[in-house]
Amino acid sequence: MTNSLITGWGKCLPPTVLTNHDLESLVDTNDEWITARTGIKERRISHVGTADLATVAGKRALAAAGLPPADVDLVSVATCTPDMLLPSAASLVQDALGATNAGAVDQNAACSGFLYSLIMASGMVDGGVIDTALVIGSERLTYLIDFTDRGTAVLFGDGAGAVVVQATDEPGGLKASELGSDGAVADILWAPGSGTGVNRMELEKDHRLQAIAMNGPEVFKRAVTAMGHSSTRVVKEAGWALEDVDLLIPHQANVRIIDATARRLKLDPAKVFVNIESYGNTSAATIPIALTEALEARRVKPGAKIVFAAFGAGLSWAAAAYEFGSRTEPLGESDAELPPTDGDVMRLLADNFAYYGGGPGS
Ligand SMILES: CC(C)(COP(=O)(O)OP(=O)(O)OC[C@H]1O[C@@H](n2cnc3c(N)ncnc32)[C@H](O)[C@@H]1OP(=O)(O)O)[C@@H](O)C(=O)NCCC(=O)NCCS
Repeated sequence: MTNSLITGWGKCLPPTVLTNHDLESLVDTNDEWITARTGIKERRISHVGTADLATVAGKRALAAAGLPPADVDLVSVATCTPDMLLPSAASLVQDALGATNAGAVDQNAACSGFLYSLIMASGMVDGGVIDTALVIGSERLTYLIDFTDRGTAVLFGDGAGAVVVQATDEPGGLKASELGSDGAVADILWAPGSGTGVNRMELEKDHRLQAIAMNGPEVFKRAVTAMGHSSTRVVKEAGWALEDVDLLIPHQANVRIIDATARRLKLDPAKVFVNIESYGNTSAATIPIALTEALEARRVKPGAKIVFAAFGAGLSWAAAAYEFGSRTEPLGESDAELPPTDGDVMRLLADNFAYYGGGPGS
């Protein structure tokens, strides 16, 4: 029987850094508070669009799988910050990669988006619909951040990660999954003026309608419940005992949410992958970036039993029990790079300050 496996992985982090100390000049906050309450020390601000970040991550994942772009049947980009609504970011990426035999689609389940896409692509490969998918999570989330709102300004960052999901004869792959949504509480984390449902006159009067608005404590509570429950359910459904789990790779939104999920799974901290200190919450990109870094750090052993878990706006959530394949080394490397930038973070954010308000010392 055909079996889907992750055979390639890659990430793309834009180089410009926004530190907690930088944020002290923008909002009433401080490094101690951000570190203690979230675990974040710095995040990246992109000088290019979502599709460009996705393309570099995608090229690196294809190189790791040893595949030419022409072998890809489906380019799936999980994002809630596409460059534009038409066409999809995936279409732009498909063209930039030269993936001439691929279909292309964006998927938006906010921060759960990558896991949704991974589960759907794995199902398509397992069902024989396609042989090879390039599944990317890519976000330029800081475009939607009002840097006068300290409740959101400290949390989010930009970046992309990608995996290749391929049909193989090897054992492993997706053992159990859960997808969920509670649209009744959509307004606790949303950007109500970011699509076509907003009256343009209203948006003109208040640009902040376009920015991400959040009831942090309410999202926190629900995230802990959704991540904890869904993770334990997929472990059980996969027929694993809790002690069988080798690694938890969770959505990186807040280190306290990650700790609570790990406690629910009774996991030793050594079995939990955390990189939130470097990138903050990059939404759909956190899990593929974390998986790539876990592989680079040799924390994914051949046949490793991995739990992925995510939640996000919607409120959406997803979890997967995933058995990694026998190859944990990349087959090749790509020389793809983003165009250079001078790394001046306040210059990059000037557009946000002009539109939503704020700026250094304001
Ligand atoms: C946003 C979040 C970090 C806030 O942490 P919290 O512990 O819940 O903090 P609260 O909102 O209860 O605020 C506690 C205090 O800190 C203050 N505060 C809030 N943000 C602050 C900041 N950036 N810097 C300094 N102080 C801040 C509050 O005003 C409040 O002050 P008060 O006690 O004088 O009223 C936390 O709720 C969270 O991570 N929620 C989930 C968000 C998330 O994951 N979103 C993405 C989903 S994919």
